[in-house]
Amino acid sequence: MAAEAPGEYDLIVLGGGSGGYACALRSAQLGLRVALIERDKLGGTCLHRGCIPTKALLHAAEVADTARDGSRFGVISSVESIDMPAVLRYQQSVVNRLHKGLQGLVSAANLDYLPGVGEVTSPTTVRVGDTTLTGRNLVLATGSRARSLPGLEIGGRVLSSDEAVALDVVPESIIVLGGGVIGVEFASVYRSFGAAVTIVEALPRLVPAEEESISKALERAFRKRGIVSHTGARFAGVTQDDAGVTVSLEDGSTLSADYLLVAVGRGPVSEGMGFESAGVVIDRGFVPTDDRRRTNVPGVYAVGDLVPGLQLAHRGFAHGIFVAEEIAGLSPEPVLDRTIPKVTYCDPEIASVGLTEGAARAAYGEVRSYEYNLGGNGKSQILGTSGFVTVVRVVDGPVVGIHMIGARMGEQIGEAQLVVGWDAMPEDVAPLLHAHPTQNEALGEAHLALAGKPLHAHA
Ligand code: NAI
Repeated sequence: MAAEAPGEYDLIVLGGGSGGYACALRSAQLGLRVALIERDKLGGTCLHRGCIPTKALLHAAEVADTARDGSRFGVISSVESIDMPAVLRYQQSVVNRLHKGLQGLVSAANLDYLPGVGEVTSPTTVRVGDTTLTGRNLVLATGSRARSLPGLEIGGRVLSSDEAVALDVVPESIIVLGGGVIGVEFASVYRSFGAAVTIVEALPRLVPAEEESISKALERAFRKRGIVSHTGARFAGVTQDDAGVTVSLEDGSTLSADYLLVAVGRGPVSEGMGFESAGVVIDRGFVPTDDRRRTNVPGVYAVGDLVPGLQLAHRGFAHGIFVAEEIAGLSPEPVLDRTIPKVTYCDPEIASVGLTEGAARAAYGEVRSYEYNLGGNGKSQILGTSGFVTVVRVVDGPVVGIHMIGARMGEQIGEAQLVVGWDAMPEDVAPLLHAHPTQNEALGEAHLALAGKPLHAHA
């Protein structure tokens, strides 16, 4: 760890989650004097309460489904039971390994790591305990937390994702409030573990931020899995006792279950840390920035979930790296939400990048889209999954959106992001080979078709 001129930093980073630690590590690589302050654990929501622990649960869920469905492939197997404490031990072992690795990276880097609560006292000073640090720049990276609805208290049998990720029993039944990303991922986990699952979503469809055809396909797949979805259904209230919860909806109907999981979005963490005293504008709790992550106060930046827009760990990493390079004077390319890849790890998985067909039409006028059905993809047939890849292009122009659904399709997001991020034409992608038999071929086939030369598809 650097001990160089404490109190005189090029930048002070408040928050050691995805955005903050990435910013601090990149700054150290670039030779900047950097202090990183974290009040809880390095790695933040993503590592301890979000991406990693939930994806471990989803992997255990996939193992359960594989065992349950073995006979479909001639392997006679069944699920005896789900040992939830053992699932949590597996989950925690993954988290702990990554946490240890991250702590090692931070302690080996040339930066000052200060565990503790940081309070901003001016645009250039942060107090941590009895120490006041001074920096030329300040990076706010304090992240987000699960939010609820007015009057809906988290506690007892009413869970947020923070409690659900550590729940050591498999509920017999659960109601999931919110059919967004967290809602459908947990619904998928609990269903695979054998629970009766009901989703309540206020908007007319599940995963409303995705292409409409993706929502329809997910709803169909969930229905087949026995997950009940009430869309266009607004929550009115909940009561709980020792036996369970009763949720009432605005249409007067009621639903009962062992637990209620509230997954109605995440709100920013910006209170009580002195942001106002530095003169930073706060809008509904978020800290608005321009494309270069500058707040309204010169020298004060904000990154990650604190900044309005997509709340994704990889956006936070990219923001953090961007700001480090910006402060180092490297003039990096801004990180724009438009080309940020999104993966939802329910079964079937959803992966998308860029614009939906409707948004592309609004932005560019004439567009053409092609839907390649996984029915024509050998590897998907081997896996026994259905789904599709939709590629949206501007007529005679580049690909501006790719939307995919199907088991394991999240792994295809890398190429999709390169295509959209590089403004590639389908004709640029068509000559590139896609290994056979992979699900990746489905992407290749969709581009071939859009370039006017379909192979295993109808034009
Ligand atoms: P979300 O915004 O994705 O979904 C919340 C859903 O709740 C929306 O569909 C909304 O219409 C619904 N809702 C709101 N009020 C309601 C009400 N009164 N009654 C019924 N439904 C209501 O937020 P979510 O799922 O909580 O996730 C938070 C953030 O975390 C998201 O930005 C998400 O992208 C991120 N995340 C990303 C993951 C990934 O990339 N795989 C995994 C988990 C979370």
